[in-house]
Amino acid sequence: MDNVDISKGYVNVPVEDNIDFKTEIEKLKKEKNAVILAHYYQSGDIQDIADFIGDSLALAQWASKTDADIIVLCGVHFMGETAKILCPDKKVLVPDMNAGCSLADSCPAEEFSKFVKDNPGHTVISYVNTSAAVKAVTDVVVTSTNARQIVESFPAEEKIIFGPDRNLGNYINSITGRNMKLWDGACHVHEQFSLEKIVALKKEHPEALLLAHPECKKVILMLADKVGSTAALLKFANESTAKEFIVATESGILHEMKKNNPDKVFIPAPPNDSTCACNECNFMRLNTMKKLYLTLKYELPEIEVDKDIAEKAVLPIRKMLDISAELGL
Ligand code: 13P
Ligand code: SF4
Repeated sequence: MDNVDISKGYVNVPVEDNIDFKTEIEKLKKEKNAVILAHYYQSGDIQDIADFIGDSLALAQWASKTDADIIVLCGVHFMGETAKILCPDKKVLVPDMNAGCSLADSCPAEEFSKFVKDNPGHTVISYVNTSAAVKAVTDVVVTSTNARQIVESFPAEEKIIFGPDRNLGNYINSITGRNMKLWDGACHVHEQFSLEKIVALKKEHPEALLLAHPECKKVILMLADKVGSTAALLKFANESTAKEFIVATESGILHEMKKNNPDKVFIPAPPNDSTCACNECNFMRLNTMKKLYLTLKYELPEIEVDKDIAEKAVLPIRKMLDISAELGL
């Protein structure tokens, strides 16, 4: 497949008119013993064709136990990297390699390593939204689903560095009474939600509950009826007797919320930028059905992780999976 053009970060090959991507993807998937794992922030069509949809923790758990030969990770680059680190012998594909993450980018490995060196005697806890090189200098990885429990699995007096999300870090500090040293990073999507517009929406919908991801700013979290990972917010919406919800996380999650709860109303929380009514992660949305089809057809572009980095990064990821299993998460 050397002659296939992936110079733009995705397979750039014309496709026949009127192609039925859904049928073709299903066919290729079977033929190649491939599995499609999709994050809740993917577009609805990709979520619908995936073999598994989940949050960051669930995707890592799923990748670690699949017996497929090819994993197509419909999410962002660090999710593909995590899958590759866990399954070095499998082919891991991401439909568009440009699907980065502003939060992971806010934590360059060299600077983070210096931060770690400058604070000796600290246990390093990193959010999964980081590069493999950051994970390689980490003691244990966490996701928004297990961050609280993993932090609390360390003694109260443990000195901890937490990176890179300052909002998640501050939130965990506030609910656990810890005083972790925080890296000053953030996600451009979750920091965008407008307090004023959410307050106005609450007035219009007085019965609506506010669901917020812990990557949101503190003012939003203080107003929220439920703070949690995408999977936790979905579970809450499924189990709640409330009928209306304002959702302060990437709007892709509304697809599954609406599917599971056709009788409930889900309103995407508005961002500060008034040109858009909802909040989409521009990186997540780079993946499309066409790119997914082409990635399966040509088995490109493939995630590669430097062997030395992968050997170090796998340890804190496995530690997270082990602790999560012990905690029944
Ligand atoms: P979770 O999948 O852990 O909810 O994290 C959200 C996120 O921002 C993923 O990029
Ligand atoms: Fe990264 Fe934010 Fe996009 Fe998640 S929503 S992938 S944290 S930029």
